[in-house]
Amino acid sequence: MQFRPLPAASFETDIGENEITFYSENGYLSVPRVTTDEELAWLREVYDQLLAMAPTGYLDGIFDLSRPYGTTDVPKLGQLLLPERLVPQIRQTVFWRNAHRIASRLLGVTPTKVESWGHLIFKGADSPAETPWHQDEAYWDPTQEYSELSIWIPLQAATLENGCMQFVPGTHRQEVLPHHPIGNDPRIIGLEVDDPERLTAGAVACPIPAGGATVHHSRMLHYTSPNRSDGPRRAYILTFGTPRRQRAVPRRFYWQEQQQTKWQERHEAAKAVREKSGGM
Ligand code: NI
Repeated sequence: MQFRPLPAASFETDIGENEITFYSENGYLSVPRVTTDEELAWLREVYDQLLAMAPTGYLDGIFDLSRPYGTTDVPKLGQLLLPERLVPQIRQTVFWRNAHRIASRLLGVTPTKVESWGHLIFKGADSPAETPWHQDEAYWDPTQEYSELSIWIPLQAATLENGCMQFVPGTHRQEVLPHHPIGNDPRIIGLEVDDPERLTAGAVACPIPAGGATVHHSRMLHYTSPNRSDGPRRAYILTFGTPRRQRAVPRRFYWQEQQQTKWQERHEAAKAVREKSGGM
């Protein structure tokens, strides 16, 4: 894949005590700007080229979070893990550097202790696909202890109409809640928390301008609506964390077990992708 060179950009942003306190109380944060307009235009070009690849249906390429594993139709809720393995320059962006700085402040560790990886989530114009209410940690390995957060940057303004992030303040202080695959179909990768209507009464929407970002804790309940606008809703997510540790008290995420052999298949594919990239 060929891309024009990453535009030279110098833009540094940081957060202070007020933001750190807000995040620790609420589990999320909005940051008005983490990158430049010029870099955003470059990221959009890269993003569109990556998402134009034919879906593989598996974790090694474009897959659909909302449909059975292995589906190669045009995705309704397309995802690509670790785009930085295909475009290493992404790690040199102002966006990545600013997000890394903000993440290390919120994780309370020095930047050198923080590991990171990215993924893309795509909703085409007028797409009916929602990303249902979930905690990210519900997807992860229940035997591991995590200290992680994600920084979500839309590559255009994020609005209520095109599917900005929504959060339930304070839910990051809960354990991982019971989840089920979307539509209770164990072949589907996407998860939804059980009983979302009851759990999300206090939800807040976080519209942000282009170039801004939202941050959320790995146990924060979050959601994005269908894209009802006439343009695509591109989102780039970076996840940051300190190295994972084996939990002293093991957990069981039975919803992963219900995904039967598909889970094992996913796990192996994810492992292969991560080993190839040298990422987390
Ligand atoms: Ni999520």
